[in-house]
Amino acid sequence: MQRKVRIGIVGIGSFSRLHIKGALDAVNAELVALADPDETRLHQHDEKFKVAHLDHYTDYNEMLARDDIEAVIVASNDQAHKELTVAALRAGKHVLCEKPMALTMEDCIAMIEAEKETGKKLMVGQVTRYDGVCSKAVQMIKDGVIGDIYYVESEYAHDYSKIPGTNQWRMDPARHGIIGGGCHAVDLLRSIAGNPIELSAYSNNKCLTDWPVYDCSVAIFKFPNNVIGKVMSSIGCKRSATRQTSVYGTKGTLVFTRSNIDLFTEHFSDTLDIKDQFKVRIPIPVQKNDHNVLGEITDFCEAIIEDKPVPCPGKDGAITAYTCMAIVEASQTGKPVTLNYDFAK
Ligand SMILES: NC(=O)c1ccc[n+]([C@@H]2O[C@H](COP(=O)([O-])OP(=O)(O)OC[C@H]3O[C@@H](n4cnc5c(N)ncnc54)[C@H](O)[C@@H]3O)[C@@H](O)[C@H]2O)c1
Repeated sequence: MQRKVRIGIVGIGSFSRLHIKGALDAVNAELVALADPDETRLHQHDEKFKVAHLDHYTDYNEMLARDDIEAVIVASNDQAHKELTVAALRAGKHVLCEKPMALTMEDCIAMIEAEKETGKKLMVGQVTRYDGVCSKAVQMIKDGVIGDIYYVESEYAHDYSKIPGTNQWRMDPARHGIIGGGCHAVDLLRSIAGNPIELSAYSNNKCLTDWPVYDCSVAIFKFPNNVIGKVMSSIGCKRSATRQTSVYGTKGTLVFTRSNIDLFTEHFSDTLDIKDQFKVRIPIPVQKNDHNVLGEITDFCEAIIEDKPVPCPGKDGAITAYTCMAIVEASQTGKPVTLNYDFAK
């Protein structure tokens, strides 16, 4: 019989609905409890997902005190990630924590230390890694379909003006757009080109003018293997959400969005003029699976059951958060930042 990891979720906000559904659908998980200090929010998804019979806690410590809960998903506002993750690890639970791991390196390091001290697994929910389009594109790049890559670019544009979060937590001056949302694009580029060596960046705030954050940032990167790249992030954009990504290689180019992949590659044909040989666009069949929290939870539980490393451990999540923080620093100082990953050794 399939072993199931017994899970509690802390932070029952808007995004937790995907975690509730994912934990209910995962073959190797069993959702047993929910926790949130706000009684109304705690019960907000009960009817839709038929989870009113589960145990509900307004004090997460009561949930953590239960011996029959093995793992906890932290889906609270970013500012509470460290407190909740460290408390859960110290209570002997494995933790899947939402992205961004935290808003300061101090918090990220405290989380990594708790992971080390307790020997429990900490996974950061960089969910783009589970997106059907992105994972297929990343695999094609790894398989050498476009040759040696030399340039990568991605973007994250999503209008946050109507979603400041419970008690407006997204308006925290430490939660610049590049950290909270742009981390998806940064994490994706890391999975394609590795950890950046150096970056320069500019940021502004012309859309969410009453938010004390940079709402738009652009960063250019120097990656290992002489790859260069760029990320743009806008959280006040006046358009539908987008995450278009282009990866240029010596044998072809991949352009992918949230729903499709186009491959531009050398293609000889009797009917085509030779000068058009790279203009052939080949749509790649792909299963759209944006926000694949089910895949994320399934892998998290599999790592627990088989006692193997989680796909995005604390150090990995911290590198993405750190890169985003470095973009803020470069924007503030007007100087390039050389990245130093000693904290992840
Ligand atoms: N992966 C993604 O694409 C994605 C998308 C949206 C949000 N998120 C992340 O999910 C998290 C939640 O975002 P949201 O949009 O659901 O926010 P939200 O404001 O809707 O919900 C946050 C919830 O956390 C609760 N909370 C606050 N302090 C708490 C504490 N100490 N203990 C327990 N619960 C507490 C609040 O009461 C609220 O119900 C954030 O970290 C956000 O960055 C990720």
